[in-house]
Amino acid sequence: MSNVRKVYMYPRWLRFWHWINAILFFLLILSGVSMQYSDTSSLLMPFEYAIVTHNVCGILLSAVFLYYLFFNIKTRNYKQYIPQLRGAKEMYLKQMRYYLVGVFKGEPHPFETTPENKFNPLQKLTYFLIMFLAVPGIIISGWLLMFPELAPEQIMGMGGVWPMALLHITIGFFLNLFFIGHIYLATHGDTVTANFKSMINGWHLHIEHNNQYNVSNSEISDEDAPEQSGNSSVDISKQESNNNENKIEVINNNLK
Ligand code: HEM
Repeated sequence: MSNVRKVYMYPRWLRFWHWINAILFFLLILSGVSMQYSDTSSLLMPFEYAIVTHNVCGILLSAVFLYYLFFNIKTRNYKQYIPQLRGAKEMYLKQMRYYLVGVFKGEPHPFETTPENKFNPLQKLTYFLIMFLAVPGIIISGWLLMFPELAPEQIMGMGGVWPMALLHITIGFFLNLFFIGHIYLATHGDTVTANFKSMINGWHLHIEHNNQYNVSNSEISDEDAPEQSGNSSVDISKQESNNNENKIEVINNNLK
């Protein structure tokens, strides 16, 4: 007998930000690469459209990033991203081994996903660097390229705009790598599509192969959590946390 545990993990504001951000990122990558080529017959996007698309998406990305920061502070979601320092090396190696070996042997995830600890140690570190270093860096350098008069006149003996362009394109390169790696690693949920579904409906589904699970509180603001979304063919024993928030359901299932 195994349980399907449902945890409300991604509140509506986060999902809204995430998918808008993903679309904008995709368009920024497409137009950014196209802008490297002045040939308007480019397969990706004609040069003149690429400039407009890049500027408009960059402005929108800045706006949704402010929205993301605001809600992260309001709901304290930012705490999820703070990398753990104690035992970091062992944890990173453990997670790395899982990605390189364990995942191909069908081994269980080395770190369990809970509402208090949504991410594994490598996710924490990556999301932290991406969201609080790379994204602000690419946004600030982008604005300074759009308004070069605001850029410092000289940086280390060079004209101020050139280092900004170099910074922008270097961060862009790493964000491209993140984008590809992130989508690939997102397929490593309990099933290939499980994480994508979670980011769409908010619920993280986890199949447990024993019946023990301790329910605990979450800091996620989830006033938008659906009341009930269980499968009618299974016996649902809903376990509520102390403040009666309907965040975790354990569905006793007959899965073997
Ligand atoms: C088509 C593109 C994308 C897809 C399919 C995708 C997919 C996902 C999925 C399935 C998750 C939930 C599981 C997990 O945490 O790994 C997730 C979370 C996340 N993604 Fe993406 N993603 C995309 C683009 C992006 C981009 C461009 C960024 C940022 C630059 C990003 C940043 C994040 C962050 C920060 C989280 C964790 C959010 C939180 O719970 O606080 N994603 N993504």
